[in-house]
Amino acid sequence: MKDGHGRVIDYLRISLTDRCNFRCIYCMPADGVCMMGHDEILRIEEIEAITRVATSIGIRSVRLTGGEPLVRKGVVDLVRALHKMEGIDNISLTTNGVLLPEMAGDLKEAGLSRVNISLDTLDPAQFEFITRVGKIESTLKGIDAALAAGFNPVKINAVTVRSLKQDYLAFAKLSIDQPLHVRFIEYMPVGESTGSDGSGWGKEDVVPSEELIEIINERAAAEGMPALEPIDGDGKPIGWGPARYFQFPGAQGTVGFISPLSRHFCSECNRLRLTADGKLRPCLFSDRELDIRAALREGGEEAVYDCFLQALDLKPDEHHDKVGTERKMSQIGG
Ligand code: GTP
Ligand code: 5AD
Ligand code: SF4
Repeated sequence: MKDGHGRVIDYLRISLTDRCNFRCIYCMPADGVCMMGHDEILRIEEIEAITRVATSIGIRSVRLTGGEPLVRKGVVDLVRALHKMEGIDNISLTTNGVLLPEMAGDLKEAGLSRVNISLDTLDPAQFEFITRVGKIESTLKGIDAALAAGFNPVKINAVTVRSLKQDYLAFAKLSIDQPLHVRFIEYMPVGESTGSDGSGWGKEDVVPSEELIEIINERAAAEGMPALEPIDGDGKPIGWGPARYFQFPGAQGTVGFISPLSRHFCSECNRLRLTADGKLRPCLFSDRELDIRAALREGGEEAVYDCFLQALDLKPDEHHDKVGTERKMSQIGG
């Protein structure tokens, strides 16, 4: 189905929990967020019911997000149910990877199509600084487990924050010898995201993708490496997101850039979001939400259908450089 601005909406991002085993500085406060109560969180069967209705408005792909979706009990059963659901063609998941060594096989067997893993640095000390509580080996082992389980493509999401001075070339090189698709994401002003110096999101911390491509190519040239080449069509890894893809000649994987600030992709937006506490969110940057949990609990599937129609109608044309949202990123799921 199309929204009020003529865009086809066929992708639903489902946040399973606001909890996480990390506390990334740009996503969550150090002491976590005020946890949602048990009754506020959608039950697994309620998520299934809402997704079933979503297929009738044209949703074909779903992505499970968090917080960290793998800390939610019942996630493998949910994947299995979604896999069997008529109308759903693709189920993906965005994770920090920590629980993949123990869960990747079961997720694959249940019908999960692909995983995107968040990793912002290859430097162990910087990883601990960014995640506040994480150890880099846990995410690296998660990436190995995803590849070993046969997920394809496996994408790596790196949020770039200028003051962190991440080593971009080292990161991009991950795509050369392994079939990994590294994506650099511009740091977005969602929630009261806390910057690396503790002062909150600031424009100066955004590294625009065009600048980043130049930096990577300059450093590659200094090492005698060829430049990144743009790829389209068949060369791109499968996905429904807004990344633009490049590749080092001969590399097994690709390097992508997600540029919500320097190059708005709102005109191509294809998605709705469902939060763990059952709110349907038409836009990442807008706090306007519909209470689909109440619709389901009080009015059943017909009321849920109406909620989806309203959400399509409410989707704004653009985010108009809005800074900040009431919910933190961990409560929306990216
Ligand atoms: P693929 O289907 O694999 O391309 O996934 P994806 O890029 O849609 O999903 P993922 O969860 O890996 O998100 C990567 C980054 O893109 C995260 O930082 C998200 O917050 C961001 N992102 C995803 N959807 C949107 C969107 O609609 N608007 C904006 N501004 N950012 C988004
Ligand atoms: N800006 C950009 N990306 C973010 N993510 C979390 N917070 C932000 C932010 N402020 C990313 C995570 C994860 C994805 C779901 O969103 O790193 O990969
Ligand atoms: Fe957890 Fe991902 Fe947020 Fe980090 S970015 S705190 S891993 S949800």
